[in-house]
Amino acid sequence: MADFSGPAAGAEPDAAALIAARPHLSMDPVQGLTLEGVALADIAAELGTPAWVYGAGTIRARFRQLRAALAEVGLGDTQIHYAVKANDHLAILALLAAEGAGADVVSGGELARARHAGIAASHIVYSGVGKSAQDLRLAVSEGVGQINVESREELAMLSAVAEAAGRPVDLVLRVNPDVDAETHAKITTGLAENKFGIAWEEVESVYAYAASLPGLNPLGLAMHIGSQIVSVGPFDAAFARMADMISRLRAAGHTVARLDCGGGIGISYEAGQGISVAEYAGVMARHLGGLDLHLMMEPGRWLVGPAGVLLSAVVLAKKTGNGSFLVLDAAMNDLVRPAMYDAWHGIVPVAAADAGAPGAPVDVVGPVCETGDTFARGRLLPPLGPDALVAILDAGAYGAVMSSTYNARPLAAAALVDGSRWAAITPRQEIAALWARETVPAWLATADESEA
Ligand code: LLP
Repeated sequence: MADFSGPAAGAEPDAAALIAARPHLSMDPVQGLTLEGVALADIAAELGTPAWVYGAGTIRARFRQLRAALAEVGLGDTQIHYAVKANDHLAILALLAAEGAGADVVSGGELARARHAGIAASHIVYSGVGKSAQDLRLAVSEGVGQINVESREELAMLSAVAEAAGRPVDLVLRVNPDVDAETHAKITTGLAENKFGIAWEEVESVYAYAASLPGLNPLGLAMHIGSQIVSVGPFDAAFARMADMISRLRAAGHTVARLDCGGGIGISYEAGQGISVAEYAGVMARHLGGLDLHLMMEPGRWLVGPAGVLLSAVVLAKKTGNGSFLVLDAAMNDLVRPAMYDAWHGIVPVAAADAGAPGAPVDVVGPVCETGDTFARGRLLPPLGPDALVAILDAGAYGAVMSSTYNARPLAAAALVDGSRWAAITPRQEIAALWARETVPAWLATADESEA
């Protein structure tokens, strides 16, 4: 199974190559690294570090690029439901909504966020392998546009909810096409052994079951075979299987009007790899274009991943035994992807002089008390002293949303750059907020003399 471990040591792109591959980044000789023209050092000076910085222009441009690629192959009517889980910040949701995106949500919380950001319920698709009766009641009472149902058991629950609410519910069945997405095992979802979707050989009988239940309008199918898929091959295979299933269901007399193609389009964390959306759209058109389907998709990472960086300051450079460590003030609690998936992220010094200096291999780590709190091993970086800034690249997706407060580290600040302006969109969490929801039972409480 492929992992994310990145290029071989020594074959890694240097700072100049990483910047050159990302149109929103550039290195100004005076201001240092800029994102959409705004100096990251200025943002760090105002917000402190660690801080997430997102580029609105990059997200808009990517959304439009995807739209254009679909239109180019005659699929301009495809509805794009942004996968909120990738980055659920209200500002990101609001800007994608303004571009015409709907939302793909997987929890009551994501549904509420999407609604709060101004996305109409009718533009929301509710996915997820374990929706509770309460989740389904909320989705139905809000009037979401579509529920992606993943099992026979969920169909029965949803039918009861629809009946009780007295309104029919539009749904599609998320099926498992049993295709290897050739990505990291932890984010592969479309193999028979995975927990997701309806098993391929049961799709026809479950569709008939859905059609037989009161209160339900089965309108089609959905698939999602995994995330960070970096070649079109798995999509090619999955779309071919979906087209085949659609004709089988239609031949059995079922209405199949919609197909939700899911998300999963990978990005290039290094430089050069990854699939083009033009190629992806071409494969979509080839298999699905002539089938008289209302097509939908749920991209997350591709839209927002490249648009964000995690800004961090060096705490200290530590030499020990044979080891050379650069300890940052960001950690696995902020960006967990390297610790969780061995994910490779580019790391670029923010100061122009630093970025241009010759590098030596160093392990880039955070201050959390776990060896896994490592952003990179043996990364070629110039000598960086305390307070030097670095940007960890491509942190716009599955970054802040996966943060925790492990080691009682407050959640980082965030900023949005938009044109020549930028704004703080989340302040750093206050230390006292770490325990604001906690109470100590009266029998344990002792007066804190320092507060008396
Ligand atoms: N639709 C469904 C049903 C999904 O489960 C997902 C992602 C998406 C859409 C969006 O997929 P995307 O276009 O972003 O690949 N935390 C992992 C990624 C987990 C993806 C989970 N599902 C990571 O950091 O790589």
